[in-house]
Amino acid sequence: MAQDSSKPDFWDKRFREKFMPWDAGRVPQSLEQFVARHSGRGRVLVPGCGTGYEVRLLAEAGFEVTAIDFSEEAIEAGRRALGSHAHLLRLADFFRFEGDQPHFDAIYERAFLCALPRRIWGDWATRTAALLRPGGLLFGLFYFDNNAKGPPFGIGAAELDALLSPSFDLVENEAVSDSIPAFAGRERWQVWRRRDNGR
Ligand SMILES: C[S@@+](CC[C@H](N)C(=O)[O-])C[C@H]1O[C@@H](n2cnc3c(N)ncnc32)[C@H](O)[C@@H]1O
Repeated sequence: MAQDSSKPDFWDKRFREKFMPWDAGRVPQSLEQFVARHSGRGRVLVPGCGTGYEVRLLAEAGFEVTAIDFSEEAIEAGRRALGSHAHLLRLADFFRFEGDQPHFDAIYERAFLCALPRRIWGDWATRTAALLRPGGLLFGLFYFDNNAKGPPFGIGAAELDALLSPSFDLVENEAVSDSIPAFAGRERWQVWRRRDNGR
């Protein structure tokens, strides 16, 4: 059980032991640049937020942020890091939580998909599409690799396309220059737009 990254225990243990090799300790530059272009538009979900450095940036840019994590230890770490923005964090499971309103305008991705076992990636794609309004954006950093063991579980470009193309169009796809060492050279900034006619 402790080795199954689909369970909160797996992540609680790592936060408790402060073994967080994914934790950048800062906001990715690509997000700063995106926010400079898109400030203050709508409701953003940050699933699997962890320490959640991005929450402050998004909130201060005028987005209405809901940041969720199903690990109590992650939420505690996030609350400590976020101070006056701590109220934006919620203990909740991405696959089960009920929002106050039906659809988000955007979902931010960073080290969440690659934290999930590959067997539930189809559920992630379905849930992501269901949570976004038509025209809404899935934006952030995606980890590309074909490694056997994880997390992080890298994805292939064709595999991500197969998951998302039934409901999304890829509208931005850029290299990332400030990745942490664990992701360096294998991370890309992408923005996917939810189609009106998606499933
Ligand atoms: C690799 S960490 C990334 C944290 C953060 N996004 C970052 O970039 O630092 C993955 C996070 O996803 C959370 N997580 C995994 N599955 C989840 C789920 N089903 N619902 C909510 N959070 C989940 C874990 O608890 C963990 O905090």
